[in-house]
Amino acid sequence: MSDRVYIFDTTLRDGEQSPGATMNAKEKVRIASRLEALGVDIMEAGFPAASEGDFAAVQDVAAVCQKSSVAGLARTSKSDIDKAWGAVQHAKHPRIHTFIATSDIHLEHKLKMDRDQVVEAAVNAVKYAKSFTDDVEFSAEDGSRSDRDYLCRVFEAAIAAGATTVNLPDTVGYAIPHEFAELVKYVMEHTPNIHQAILSVHCHNDLGLATSNTLAAIQAGARQAEVTVNGIGERAGNTSLEEVVMAMHTRPNYLDFHTNIVTEQIHPASRLVRMITGIMVQPNKAIVGANAFAHEAGIHQDGVLKNPMTYEIMRPETVGLSKNNMVLGKHSGRHALRSHLADMGYVLSDEELQDLFIKFKDLADKKKHVVDEDLEALVSIGILRTSDKYSLDYLHVSAGTGVKPTATVGLKTNGDVLMGAEFGNGPIDAAFNTIAKMTGTTSEMLRFTVSALTGGTDAQGEVTVRLQEGKNIALGRGVDPDIITASAKAYVNGINRLEYLRDNPVISDKDVVENE
Ligand code: KIV
Ligand code: ZN
Repeated sequence: MSDRVYIFDTTLRDGEQSPGATMNAKEKVRIASRLEALGVDIMEAGFPAASEGDFAAVQDVAAVCQKSSVAGLARTSKSDIDKAWGAVQHAKHPRIHTFIATSDIHLEHKLKMDRDQVVEAAVNAVKYAKSFTDDVEFSAEDGSRSDRDYLCRVFEAAIAAGATTVNLPDTVGYAIPHEFAELVKYVMEHTPNIHQAILSVHCHNDLGLATSNTLAAIQAGARQAEVTVNGIGERAGNTSLEEVVMAMHTRPNYLDFHTNIVTEQIHPASRLVRMITGIMVQPNKAIVGANAFAHEAGIHQDGVLKNPMTYEIMRPETVGLSKNNMVLGKHSGRHALRSHLADMGYVLSDEELQDLFIKFKDLADKKKHVVDEDLEALVSIGILRTSDKYSLDYLHVSAGTGVKPTATVGLKTNGDVLMGAEFGNGPIDAAFNTIAKMTGTTSEMLRFTVSALTGGTDAQGEVTVRLQEGKNIALGRGVDPDIITASAKAYVNGINRLEYLRDNPVISDKDVVENE
């Protein structure tokens, strides 16, 4: 029997650290349910000490997860660990994940601590976390740039203090696969009690090597991989879940390991994360990119028709790309909608279903075939963001040759509908100017992207905006058959996310490292 590799998903924590990818509690819970269906062993739901909003979101995730363990991240301070435990304690399988940097550059310039002090902080943190739960993970931040023997010393001390998982992060994405595998081997051979814990790796993708480094580490003895869906995360992102899992699945002769992942859930999970975070997946992204299974060259198409194995190393169905994605139309009823949504993993309350059904009918009037992506957009935007401050209620634009582009906008807020009108350089600009004036936003638009949600001329337009207000950055996303409406929805969505960030300020990372 091949060895099991545990999949630790950090989409809701490191993934959320992608610029602008902030999620509210409802969105996190929705992704968490999908991650459970995907079969992740552990999900890191957030960093509870970072903000009140994140604390509440981790609590909500902990309350719904039945199978996956739920981890909360904490620095080594007691107050961080108290918050992490406060947030995960009601999970069926709670985990506290505490971390401190171990590289000299971090010790000297960031922590201003010496090596002994860091060992002491790590040990105290693990012991304190252990007083709450048996399942404690310790991470040596910047582990790949740490002195090898010191790293082994810290791990040995953390395991002796009770850590059941020790994690070796390549925090800055600096490692090279062969080198990283050597480091893992060294840790396995020079940490006397390493077999009392699971060795984990957590790689960032700054050099595009996160998946390679993770696989090399697994071959060298690591048995937990820390990953995110679509590879989202801090800077260039984290190791992508789908790449690591499918590499092991597709090449068992070379990578003789197994995971608990239900591979057919990979695409639905990828789509949901894209929908909710607004972070697009590049078309040529392995496994989940729009072109990952598209054969363009005639010779390839011919080969695939004769035998898919000529050019396909994986079947699209294996990763959840269904061939008959065409689902519902304007004659479909509430029951068909409910049951199709359930097949897609969305179990909605009667009230949510009623709300969605109205939106679905409205869409089906404009678009002949409503496909999974359309439904996912309706769910992610229509249902999940009901606690938003503003929603777009009305939009009328007039534009054309010889006409000064004008927009009239109705925004619903606190039960009232406010009306406003402004001019602009074009209809989208006019709509944005109106919304900006009505909400009083001082945000700057850093990026504006338009794409089609699916193929076909009746595809819905998908717009993402990236807004900055002070130090806060938020992505906004809107989907609608009308591209101007999609743009207005995206802008309103971005402004709502900035409002959320303003109400839930993330604490400054001023290194609360000493244990009281
Ligand atoms: O990249 C990193 O080092 C981290 C740790 C908190 C595990 O995200
Ligand atoms: Zn990280």
